[in-house]
Amino acid sequence: MSELGTLEDLPLDYRQALSAQNLVPLWPSLRAVLPLGQPGPRTRATMWSYKSLRPLLMQAGELTPIEKAERRVLVLANPGHGLEKMQASSSMYLGMQLLLPGEWAPPHRHTPNAVRMIVEGTGAYTTVNGEKCPMQRGDLILTPTGLWHEHGHDGDEAVVWLDVLDLPLVYYMEASYAVEGEKQDVIPRRGDREYLRGGVVPSPVFTRDTSAYPMLRYPWVDVRAALEALAADRPGSDAVQVAYVNPEDGSSCQNILGFSALMLRPGETLALPARSPAMVFHVIEGGALVSADDTAFTLAEADTCCVPGFARVTLKNRSTTEPAFIFIADESPLHRKLGLYEVRA
Ligand SMILES: [Fe+2]
Repeated sequence: MSELGTLEDLPLDYRQALSAQNLVPLWPSLRAVLPLGQPGPRTRATMWSYKSLRPLLMQAGELTPIEKAERRVLVLANPGHGLEKMQASSSMYLGMQLLLPGEWAPPHRHTPNAVRMIVEGTGAYTTVNGEKCPMQRGDLILTPTGLWHEHGHDGDEAVVWLDVLDLPLVYYMEASYAVEGEKQDVIPRRGDREYLRGGVVPSPVFTRDTSAYPMLRYPWVDVRAALEALAADRPGSDAVQVAYVNPEDGSSCQNILGFSALMLRPGETLALPARSPAMVFHVIEGGALVSADDTAFTLAEADTCCVPGFARVTLKNRSTTEPAFIFIADESPLHRKLGLYEVRA
């Protein structure tokens, strides 16, 4: 690869003449925007320990009343992007949100898509477009773009969940905004009841649900059972993984980010191919060793880490007697839609 000319190679008066007309020479920056072979990600492999962040999150509960926070969140920010950017990767935002008994986070809707992965506590709920979704450890609840949502808490212990949003991308597109609304009227919950069995969907008088988000809550008890059934049926070396999809058409459950759950058998090591999207791993149960190129993290229950695209990732269950269950968020739907999705052997 040949060395290209730098900005400093150019006479100062020439550079000033360019700037005066809002012009920039490409060649000094060409390799930065088009690196050879593979991207040079700002996203850095980063881990957030739940045990370490939890006291600070609980302290936020004492320092800032919900009325002053609206959403009481500590953002899991990637230092590679700069903490102030509040992003885990180019397109993913992660936040740990705390809701205390009796608190209520008022209704709003926004252009970025969000999901919640419940981390601890019971008694809280999220009402999404009128469907009141109870929150239990490991449940995945969608609040897709444009859908009204509010959080409430009828229980008696702190509830924490992990928010995953495509906020950095939507913000970058200058398309990010929110609208505040009135408390929602609750309607009967549908999705996680109507799509309880794979292979059949409701079709009253031969009609099908064509709404973009027919299922808003994916209970962990069902997802875990699906993983255990897969593991029992495939005792070989196949990865035990399920994707969270739209049950009507099988597409990713949201447009930009993809979500899946993975079970590592006791003692199992799983090498993932290098793929273009960045990934987030969050341990629902058990513990795992996550290595990404030259970085390795030991993840305990409720810990979270992020790895950049094109990293060579290996996941290892730390226990030889118990399975580990991992929630994965990634940018696959976005990459596929843009024609950028790549897998390297
Ligand atoms: Fe929201």
